[in-house]
Amino acid sequence: MQIAQILQLYPLQLIESSSPRLDVEILLMHALGKNRFFIYAWGEYELKPFEITKFKELFKERLRGKPIAYLIGKREFWSMPFLVNEHTLIPRPETELLVEVALNHLPKNGIVFDMGTGSGCIALAIKKERPDCQVIGVDNSLNSLNIAKQNAHNLNLEIEWIESDWFSKIEIKADIIVSNPPYIAINDRHLMQGDVRFEPQSALVSGKDGLDDLFYLIDKSRDFLNPNGWLFLEHGFDQGFVINSLLKTACYTNINTYQDSNGQERVSGGRFPFV
Ligand SMILES: C[S@@+](CC[C@H](N)C(=O)[O-])C[C@H]1O[C@@H](n2cnc3c(N)ncnc32)[C@H](O)[C@@H]1O
Repeated sequence: MQIAQILQLYPLQLIESSSPRLDVEILLMHALGKNRFFIYAWGEYELKPFEITKFKELFKERLRGKPIAYLIGKREFWSMPFLVNEHTLIPRPETELLVEVALNHLPKNGIVFDMGTGSGCIALAIKKERPDCQVIGVDNSLNSLNIAKQNAHNLNLEIEWIESDWFSKIEIKADIIVSNPPYIAINDRHLMQGDVRFEPQSALVSGKDGLDDLFYLIDKSRDFLNPNGWLFLEHGFDQGFVINSLLKTACYTNINTYQDSNGQERVSGGRFPFV
């Protein structure tokens, strides 16, 4: 079978995917170990039997709904490649907003905590832009931290990783705390759709209304921020109002909600003025 035939026939079967042609291209590149240029330039290339077998195995999993990022073991974030696997959330483009907001508030030589670091994408993006800062990535999943460590090694960036249930093992204070915590309600129907079906529930779900971890982080961060330190949280598109109210009630000041490139409220945060 030739590349051109695969590109013509296989996307037709991926009826549940929003990007069937792109999916097939990516799986083909992965199976062949070639780049997009090769796929486009060599349509008449005849796949070898082991290449066909590899492609078909990947394709079968994709038909089952498995995310492309897990099939090829990586995803781009902040223009950097990140290893991912079934233990880590797949980094989302929306989360780049949290990185941007944090960078806009980060003092020189500041200390940053990334709570629930997963693949380490937020921590590593901040460190990449601001090598002067000390960045600490925290997660209670050792499997996630192992991937985060590999990512740090591959990107040649130095982060301190701490296995901890939120702040339980943290002994210092930060100038900025960022987090993209679990914020989906346990009965949310989206958990039954698309990529999230394959992602760890522990990275996604937070109680009856999705607010348990956000609430906890707003409350506890006050004990772990230096005076006038900032807390920034990613949240669901419909949680901005609640998070604003919770921040106000917890005596944060300079509270703001930020919209992502689709105009959705994605990140809220504020400053905690007290010791
Ligand atoms: C939504 S994922 C975010 C992952 C990554 N920061 C990102 O943006 O792609 C939430 C992360 O929080 C971690 N987490 C959940 N509960 C936690 C807890 N009690 N203590 C520390 N980390 C926790 C999960 O393991 C997961 O990696």
